[in-house]
Amino acid sequence: MKIAVIGGDGTGPEVVAEGLKVLKAVAKKVGLDVQTKDFNVSGDRYLAAGGNPEKPTIPVIHDEEIAELRTFDAMYLGAVGHPKIAPGILEKGLLLRLRFELDQYINLRPVKLYPGVWTPLKDKGPEDIDFVVVRENTEGIYTGMGGIQYKDTPQEVSTQINCTTRFGAERAIRYAFELCRRRNSAKKRLTLVHKANVLTFAGDTWFRTFQAVGKEYGDIPQDYNHVDACCMWFVKNPEYYDVIVTDNIFGDIITDLAAVIQGGLGVAAGGNINPAGVSMYEPMGGSAPKYTGKNVINPIAAIAALGMLLVETGRTKNDAKAVKAGQMVDKAVQATTPQMKSQNAGKMGFSTTQVGDLVVEALGG
Ligand code: IPM
Ligand code: MN
Repeated sequence: MKIAVIGGDGTGPEVVAEGLKVLKAVAKKVGLDVQTKDFNVSGDRYLAAGGNPEKPTIPVIHDEEIAELRTFDAMYLGAVGHPKIAPGILEKGLLLRLRFELDQYINLRPVKLYPGVWTPLKDKGPEDIDFVVVRENTEGIYTGMGGIQYKDTPQEVSTQINCTTRFGAERAIRYAFELCRRRNSAKKRLTLVHKANVLTFAGDTWFRTFQAVGKEYGDIPQDYNHVDACCMWFVKNPEYYDVIVTDNIFGDIITDLAAVIQGGLGVAAGGNINPAGVSMYEPMGGSAPKYTGKNVINPIAAIAALGMLLVETGRTKNDAKAVKAGQMVDKAVQATTPQMKSQNAGKMGFSTTQVGDLVVEALGG
């Protein structure tokens, strides 16, 4: 298995190093042949190459690098975001560009409260918080369609187009149905989340597509929630959810709320997935400049992202050893979190590298 590694900005390289430490150990245990290659793509490189920190003047990642990334089995990303670079330049220039160009049309976000992890939800435990959000990852208001007219005048008008296609909705919905079937959880249910009462065009496309595809999945109970109600239920009854499918912006927002109920950005992991191409796995936390280089950031999310990478890549490429390795990583993470004092940076009771060592130890013999 060939894995492309982009440590990226801030604490990204530190947490990715712990993930790679775990990868090395687990690969040895299951006899998986893995090769990794580092790609030096970051805000620091952009600045060093003369990129303007206020507006994008040079590429954050080069065409040749993207062409090379296409030859890998998977990608492992640390973090994107630099305190000296205006918001949007790196996000659009790297993360969104990769999602679009590699057609990573699914953003997969397991929301699982690991054992021993504190949740702000009173009276809720690991058995209550265990669901998956399937976020459409290439359309909606993320495409950059629209514009600003009469800029800097009192008549200024801006439009941001919610580009929704039947094709895009359908492939996300189908992926979610298949995932729900595979999970086969006791509460088996697929919930479509949107705002169909107000977004009566885009919401209608999603809703009708959901109903049409749903006919092929008679074994899966189907349900619809408005996004605002969904936020309420994440807090009140998270145990209701099994698999959720939603559009890009709603998915972006609800998965941050979901990250908090699963213990925070220190533990939340996700994948940008092209089931027939190259997928990219990442911890959800940002580059955390104030913790950079201090060996205090929590690597659990990055290690969990590595576990996802192994399971998902193994599954799509029929590599049973990789699936096994990923499952072992997930188990080891669940054996590690109860030993930690907190999932917050600097309060874990261990350093970044020590948490990585604990996971390696928990892989067992
Ligand atoms: C995420 C992030 C990105 C998004 C940003 C960095 C563009 O918040 O992966 O959820 O909004 O998609
Ligand atoms: Mn987000």
